[in-house]
Amino acid sequence: MMSMHPFRRLITVMMGLGVLFFLALSCNNNANEAAATETEAVAESTAKTPVQEGYEFYMSYCTMCHGEDGKGGGVLADSLKMPPLDLTTITLRRAEFPKDILAKIIAGVEDVPGHGTGDMPAWQETFKEAERITDDAVITEKINNIVAYLETIQLDEWPGE
Ligand code: HEC
Repeated sequence: MMSMHPFRRLITVMMGLGVLFFLALSCNNNANEAAATETEAVAESTAKTPVQEGYEFYMSYCTMCHGEDGKGGGVLADSLKMPPLDLTTITLRRAEFPKDILAKIIAGVEDVPGHGTGDMPAWQETFKEAERITDDAVITEKINNIVAYLETIQLDEWPGE
């Protein structure tokens, strides 16, 4: 067996190291790219639209009475003095979608004629406690998000027509 000249062996080893180094570098690059894509994805998912945020609040706080579909069939509905209104027919019943009035009904800050049986909780205070929000402007934003979501579930015509 011919043994390698020590110098050639050194060169071979160094070339091998070079290849390894190059591989490691490109792997690391890939990892960085993957991490960057992941960060972007997280950033995207946390940048929710008002409607998405409103939907999440709705699902957490409103479905027990108004139902997941907003039609008023939540699990607590039967135990209420007045049935929780069908939130998909707000526009049909009112001939408009009055964002400000709805925000006030949800917040519970103002007695709106025909409302306030006491069954519909005043969410402004609840959100402050449950979400630990102290800033009134943030509460207003959350409520406006819910209103934005409710607008997306309005029916154009009465069911069955
Ligand atoms: C404990 C049961 C209950 C829960 C929970 C509840 N509601 Fe209500 N909601 C009612 C009842 C009952 C009414 C109708 C009587 C009234 O307005 O006081 C009503 C009425 C409303 C109205 C008025 C609809 C209209 O057309 O006039 C809106 C808007 C509304 N709720 C939104 C919400 C939102 C948004 C949530 C969640 C943040 C929510 N409700 C949670 C019981 C509930």
